[in-house]
Amino acid sequence: MAEAQTFSTAPATPRHRIEVLYSNAVDVWVAWLPQFQDATGRYPVLAPAERKVAADPARAATRVAIRTLLARYCGSTPADLRFKTGPFGKPELIDSPLSFSASRRCNLALIAVAAKGRLGVDLEISRPLPELDGICAMLHPAERALIANTPRARRKYLFYRIWTRKEAALKAIGTGLAFGLDGFSVVGEQICNRVAGPCLTAGAAPLALHDLTCGGNWLAAVATEIDAARPRLFALSPPETAQGDCS
Ligand SMILES: CC(C)(COP(=O)(O)OP(=O)(O)OC[C@H]1O[C@@H](n2cnc3c(N)ncnc32)[C@H](O)[C@@H]1OP(=O)(O)O)[C@@H](O)C(=O)NCCC(=O)NCCS
Repeated sequence: MAEAQTFSTAPATPRHRIEVLYSNAVDVWVAWLPQFQDATGRYPVLAPAERKVAADPARAATRVAIRTLLARYCGSTPADLRFKTGPFGKPELIDSPLSFSASRRCNLALIAVAAKGRLGVDLEISRPLPELDGICAMLHPAERALIANTPRARRKYLFYRIWTRKEAALKAIGTGLAFGLDGFSVVGEQICNRVAGPCLTAGAAPLALHDLTCGGNWLAAVATEIDAARPRLFALSPPETAQGDCS
Protein backbone atom coordinates (compact mmCIF):
# COMPACT_ATOMS: atom_id res chain seq x y z
CA MET A 1 0.00 0.00 0.00
CA ALA A 2 1.03 3.64 -0.41
CA GLU A 3 3.79 5.17 1.64
CA ALA A 4 4.59 8.46 3.30
CA GLN A 5 3.96 11.93 1.99
CA THR A 6 5.02 15.06 3.81
CA PHE A 7 2.93 18.10 4.64
CA SER A 8 3.90 21.37 2.98
CA THR A 9 3.99 24.36 5.28
CA ALA A 10 2.45 26.78 2.77
CA PRO A 11 -0.31 28.87 4.37
CA ALA A 12 -3.86 28.64 3.05
CA THR A 13 -4.16 31.42 0.51
CA PRO A 14 -6.48 32.43 -2.33
CA ARG A 15 -4.17 30.41 -4.58
CA HIS A 16 -5.36 27.20 -2.91
CA ARG A 17 -8.92 28.23 -3.52
CA ILE A 18 -8.30 28.87 -7.18
CA GLU A 19 -6.34 25.66 -7.65
CA VAL A 20 -9.00 23.57 -5.97
CA LEU A 21 -11.79 25.21 -7.93
CA TYR A 22 -10.15 25.07 -11.33
CA SER A 23 -7.68 22.20 -11.37
CA ASN A 24 -9.50 19.35 -9.62
CA ALA A 25 -7.07 19.35 -6.70
CA VAL A 26 -7.90 17.61 -3.44
CA ASP A 27 -6.22 19.34 -0.51
CA VAL A 28 -5.67 17.80 2.91
CA TRP A 29 -4.67 20.00 5.84
CA VAL A 30 -3.32 18.94 9.20
CA ALA A 31 -4.24 21.12 12.18
CA TRP A 32 -2.71 21.09 15.67
CA LEU A 33 -5.85 21.52 17.71
CA PRO A 34 -4.57 23.41 20.78
CA GLN A 35 -3.89 26.26 18.39
CA PHE A 36 -7.62 26.52 17.67
CA GLN A 37 -8.91 26.15 21.22
CA ASP A 38 -10.54 29.11 22.93
CA ALA A 39 -9.16 29.47 26.47
CA THR A 40 -12.40 31.18 27.52
CA GLY A 41 -14.42 28.21 26.28
CA ARG A 42 -16.85 30.57 24.53
CA TYR A 43 -15.94 29.90 20.90
CA PRO A 44 -17.56 33.00 19.40
CA VAL A 45 -16.55 31.90 15.90
CA LEU A 46 -18.97 28.96 16.11
CA ALA A 47 -22.69 29.35 15.45
CA PRO A 48 -24.67 29.69 18.71
CA ALA A 49 -26.29 26.28 18.28
CA GLU A 50 -22.88 24.75 17.62
CA ARG A 51 -21.26 26.01 20.82
CA LYS A 52 -22.44 23.02 22.82
CA VAL A 53 -19.44 21.19 21.36
CA ALA A 54 -17.27 23.41 23.58
CA ALA A 55 -17.65 20.70 26.24
CA ASP A 56 -15.20 18.72 24.10
CA PRO A 57 -12.28 21.08 23.43
CA ALA A 58 -10.79 18.93 20.64
CA ARG A 59 -14.13 18.78 18.89
CA ALA A 60 -14.70 22.51 19.25
CA ALA A 61 -11.17 23.28 18.09
CA THR A 62 -11.71 21.10 15.02
CA ARG A 63 -14.84 23.09 14.19
CA VAL A 64 -12.81 26.32 14.51
CA ALA A 65 -10.04 24.91 12.32
CA ILE A 66 -12.60 23.83 9.70
CA ARG A 67 -14.14 27.30 9.66
CA THR A 68 -10.74 28.98 9.55
CA LEU A 69 -9.67 26.88 6.59
CA LEU A 70 -12.91 26.86 4.61
CA ALA A 71 -13.29 30.62 4.99
CA ARG A 72 -10.06 30.99 3.03
CA TYR A 73 -11.31 28.70 0.28
CA CYS A 74 -14.70 30.41 0.17
CA GLY A 75 -13.38 33.96 0.39
CA SER A 76 -15.52 34.45 3.51
CA THR A 77 -14.97 34.82 7.24
CA PRO A 78 -15.02 31.86 9.63
CA ALA A 79 -18.05 32.98 11.63
CA ASP A 80 -20.12 33.64 8.49
CA LEU A 81 -19.97 30.09 7.12
CA ARG A 82 -23.21 28.12 7.42
CA PHE A 83 -23.48 24.35 7.61
CA LYS A 84 -26.17 21.70 7.43
CA THR A 85 -25.91 18.04 8.35
CA GLY A 86 -27.14 15.00 6.42
CA PRO A 87 -29.33 12.27 7.90
CA PHE A 88 -26.32 10.48 9.41
CA GLY A 89 -24.53 13.60 10.55
CA LYS A 90 -22.32 14.46 7.56
CA PRO A 91 -21.69 18.22 7.61
CA GLU A 92 -21.89 20.27 4.41
CA LEU A 93 -21.52 23.91 3.54
CA ILE A 94 -24.81 25.62 2.73
CA ASP A 95 -23.67 28.48 0.52
CA SER A 96 -20.82 26.80 -1.35
CA PRO A 97 -20.39 23.72 -3.57
CA LEU A 98 -17.05 22.97 -1.90
CA SER A 99 -16.80 19.53 -0.32
CA PHE A 100 -14.97 18.93 2.90
CA SER A 101 -14.46 16.21 5.49
CA ALA A 102 -12.67 16.20 8.83
CA SER A 103 -11.30 13.65 11.25
CA ARG A 104 -9.63 14.18 14.60
CA ARG A 105 -7.60 12.06 16.98
CA CYS A 106 -6.15 13.45 20.18
CA ASN A 107 -4.65 16.82 19.35
CA LEU A 108 -4.58 16.53 15.57
CA ALA A 109 -7.22 16.96 12.90
CA LEU A 110 -7.14 16.37 9.17
CA ILE A 111 -9.40 18.46 6.97
CA ALA A 112 -9.88 17.53 3.31
CA VAL A 113 -11.21 20.06 0.78
CA ALA A 114 -12.29 19.58 -2.85
CA ALA A 115 -14.26 21.59 -5.36
CA LYS A 116 -17.12 19.12 -5.52
CA GLY A 117 -18.23 15.55 -5.11
CA ARG A 118 -18.24 13.11 -2.28
CA LEU A 119 -15.22 13.41 -0.02
CA GLY A 120 -14.20 11.64 3.17
CA VAL A 121 -11.11 11.55 5.36
CA ASP A 122 -10.17 9.40 8.31
CA LEU A 123 -7.24 9.75 10.70
CA GLU A 124 -6.12 7.06 13.13
CA ILE A 125 -3.26 6.51 15.53
CA SER A 126 -1.76 3.07 15.42
CA ARG A 127 -1.95 1.61 18.91
CA PRO A 128 -1.63 -1.92 20.31
CA LEU A 129 -4.66 -3.92 19.15
CA PRO A 130 -5.10 -7.09 21.22
CA GLU A 131 -8.67 -7.19 19.88
CA LEU A 132 -7.49 -7.21 16.24
CA ASP A 133 -8.94 -10.62 15.37
CA GLY A 134 -12.35 -9.62 16.72
CA ILE A 135 -12.44 -6.36 14.76
CA CYS A 136 -11.30 -8.09 11.59
CA ALA A 137 -14.30 -10.40 11.84
CA MET A 138 -16.48 -7.38 10.97
CA LEU A 139 -14.67 -6.67 7.69
CA HIS A 140 -15.40 -7.79 4.14
CA PRO A 141 -14.27 -11.38 3.37
CA ALA A 142 -11.60 -10.13 0.90
CA GLU A 143 -10.16 -7.85 3.58
CA ARG A 144 -10.25 -10.60 6.19
CA ALA A 145 -8.48 -12.98 3.82
CA LEU A 146 -5.77 -10.44 3.01
CA ILE A 147 -5.07 -9.82 6.70
CA ALA A 148 -5.12 -13.53 7.52
CA ASN A 149 -2.58 -14.21 4.73
CA THR A 150 -0.22 -11.47 5.92
CA PRO A 151 2.62 -12.19 8.38
CA ARG A 152 1.44 -11.42 11.92
CA ALA A 153 3.97 -8.60 12.36
CA ARG A 154 2.41 -6.67 9.45
CA ARG A 155 -1.24 -7.34 10.24
CA LYS A 156 -1.89 -4.34 12.48
CA TYR A 157 -0.45 -1.94 9.90
CA LEU A 158 -2.54 -3.52 7.16
CA PHE A 159 -5.63 -3.39 9.36
CA TYR A 160 -5.20 0.36 9.93
CA ARG A 161 -4.76 0.90 6.21
CA ILE A 162 -7.99 -0.95 5.53
CA TRP A 163 -9.80 0.76 8.39
CA THR A 164 -8.85 4.29 7.38
CA ARG A 165 -9.80 3.62 3.75
CA LYS A 166 -13.08 2.19 4.90
CA GLU A 167 -14.00 5.04 7.20
CA ALA A 168 -12.96 7.58 4.58
CA ALA A 169 -15.28 5.90 2.06
CA LEU A 170 -18.14 5.73 4.56
CA LYS A 171 -17.69 9.39 5.41
CA ALA A 172 -17.61 10.26 1.72
CA ILE A 173 -20.99 8.63 1.13
CA GLY A 174 -22.30 10.23 4.31
CA THR A 175 -23.63 7.19 6.14
CA GLY A 176 -20.65 6.64 8.38
CA LEU A 177 -20.53 3.25 10.06
CA ALA A 178 -24.32 2.88 9.71
CA PHE A 179 -23.65 1.47 6.20
CA GLY A 180 -21.88 -1.53 7.70
CA LEU A 181 -18.30 -2.65 7.27
CA ASP A 182 -18.65 -5.97 5.47
CA GLY A 183 -20.63 -4.92 2.39
CA PHE A 184 -17.72 -3.56 0.37
CA SER A 185 -14.00 -4.10 0.06
CA VAL A 186 -11.26 -1.47 -0.05
CA VAL A 187 -8.43 -3.80 -1.02
CA GLY A 188 -7.38 -5.27 -4.31
CA GLU A 189 -5.51 -2.54 -6.14
CA GLN A 190 -2.52 -0.46 -5.15
CA ILE A 191 -2.14 3.11 -3.94
CA CYS A 192 -5.15 4.66 -5.61
CA ASN A 193 -7.81 2.09 -4.98
CA ARG A 194 -11.16 2.57 -6.63
CA VAL A 195 -14.31 1.42 -4.90
CA ALA A 196 -17.00 0.59 -7.44
CA GLY A 197 -19.95 2.95 -7.17
CA PRO A 198 -22.82 0.43 -7.19
CA CYS A 199 -21.57 -1.29 -4.06
CA LEU A 200 -21.82 1.95 -2.11
CA THR A 201 -24.65 3.87 -3.77
CA ALA A 202 -26.28 2.87 -7.03
CA GLY A 203 -25.18 4.88 -10.04
CA ALA A 204 -22.68 7.02 -8.16
CA ALA A 205 -19.17 7.67 -9.43
CA PRO A 206 -16.55 5.35 -7.99
CA LEU A 207 -14.49 6.61 -5.11
CA ALA A 208 -10.72 6.86 -5.36
CA LEU A 209 -9.02 5.94 -2.10
CA HIS A 210 -5.64 7.43 -1.20
CA ASP A 211 -3.49 6.32 1.72
CA LEU A 212 -1.75 9.07 3.66
CA THR A 213 1.01 8.80 6.23
CA CYS A 214 1.20 11.72 8.61
CA GLY A 215 4.33 10.84 10.57
CA GLY A 216 4.90 8.72 13.65
CA ASN A 217 2.01 6.35 14.30
CA TRP A 218 -0.54 8.44 12.44
CA LEU A 219 -2.23 6.95 9.41
CA ALA A 220 -4.99 8.36 7.27
CA ALA A 221 -6.92 7.90 4.06
CA VAL A 222 -8.95 10.09 1.75
CA ALA A 223 -11.88 9.01 -0.42
CA THR A 224 -12.83 11.27 -3.32
CA GLU A 225 -14.77 10.93 -6.51
CA ILE A 226 -12.54 13.52 -8.16
CA ASP A 227 -10.22 11.68 -10.50
CA ALA A 228 -7.24 13.63 -9.26
CA ALA A 229 -3.60 12.99 -8.71
CA ARG A 230 -2.67 12.24 -5.12
CA PRO A 231 -4.08 14.72 -2.60
CA ARG A 232 -1.88 17.72 -1.81
CA LEU A 233 -0.87 17.84 1.85
CA PHE A 234 -0.53 21.08 3.79
CA ALA A 235 -0.03 22.10 7.41
CA LEU A 236 -2.55 24.57 8.78
CA SER A 237 -0.49 24.76 11.96
CA PRO A 238 3.24 25.45 12.25
CA PRO A 239 5.11 22.29 11.25
CA GLU A 240 6.91 21.98 14.57
CA THR A 241 3.56 21.52 16.33
CA ALA A 242 1.94 19.30 13.74
CA GLN A 243 3.85 16.25 14.96
CA GLY A 244 1.70 15.89 18.06
CA ASP A 245 0.86 12.69 19.84
CA CYS A 246 -1.61 11.69 22.50
CA SER A 247 0.49 12.66 25.50
C1 LIG B 1 -18.75 9.52 10.98
C2 LIG B 1 -18.10 8.55 11.93
C3 LIG B 1 -17.52 7.40 11.11
C4 LIG B 1 -16.99 9.34 12.63
O1 LIG B 1 -16.19 8.52 13.32
P1 LIG B 1 -14.97 8.93 14.27
O2 LIG B 1 -13.81 8.12 13.79
O3 LIG B 1 -15.39 8.72 15.66
O4 LIG B 1 -14.70 10.49 14.19
P2 LIG B 1 -13.86 11.40 13.19
O5 LIG B 1 -13.08 12.33 14.02
O6 LIG B 1 -13.10 10.61 12.18
O7 LIG B 1 -14.99 12.23 12.42
C5 LIG B 1 -15.89 13.05 13.11
C6 LIG B 1 -16.42 14.05 12.14
O8 LIG B 1 -16.96 13.37 10.99
C7 LIG B 1 -18.01 14.16 10.44
N1 LIG B 1 -19.18 13.32 10.36
C8 LIG B 1 -20.10 13.00 11.29
N2 LIG B 1 -21.02 12.17 10.78
C9 LIG B 1 -20.67 11.95 9.50
C10 LIG B 1 -21.22 11.18 8.45
N3 LIG B 1 -22.31 10.45 8.60
N4 LIG B 1 -20.59 11.18 7.26
C11 LIG B 1 -19.48 11.90 7.06
N5 LIG B 1 -18.90 12.65 8.02
C12 LIG B 1 -19.49 12.67 9.23
C13 LIG B 1 -18.20 15.36 11.37
O9 LIG B 1 -17.42 16.42 10.86
C14 LIG B 1 -17.59 14.84 12.66
O10 LIG B 1 -17.16 15.90 13.48
P3 LIG B 1 -18.07 16.33 14.74
O11 LIG B 1 -17.91 15.25 15.73
O12 LIG B 1 -17.53 17.63 15.20
O13 LIG B 1 -19.47 16.44 14.21
C15 LIG B 1 -19.08 7.96 12.97
O14 LIG B 1 -19.41 8.92 13.91
C16 LIG B 1 -20.36 7.47 12.30
O15 LIG B 1 -20.39 6.40 11.74
N6 LIG B 1 -21.41 8.28 12.30
C17 LIG B 1 -22.58 8.00 11.46
C18 LIG B 1 -23.87 8.00 12.17
C19 LIG B 1 -24.02 6.84 13.08
O16 LIG B 1 -23.93 5.70 12.70
N7 LIG B 1 -24.24 7.18 14.31
C20 LIG B 1 -24.51 6.21 15.30
C21 LIG B 1 -25.75 6.57 16.05
S1 LIG B 1 -27.12 6.77 14.95
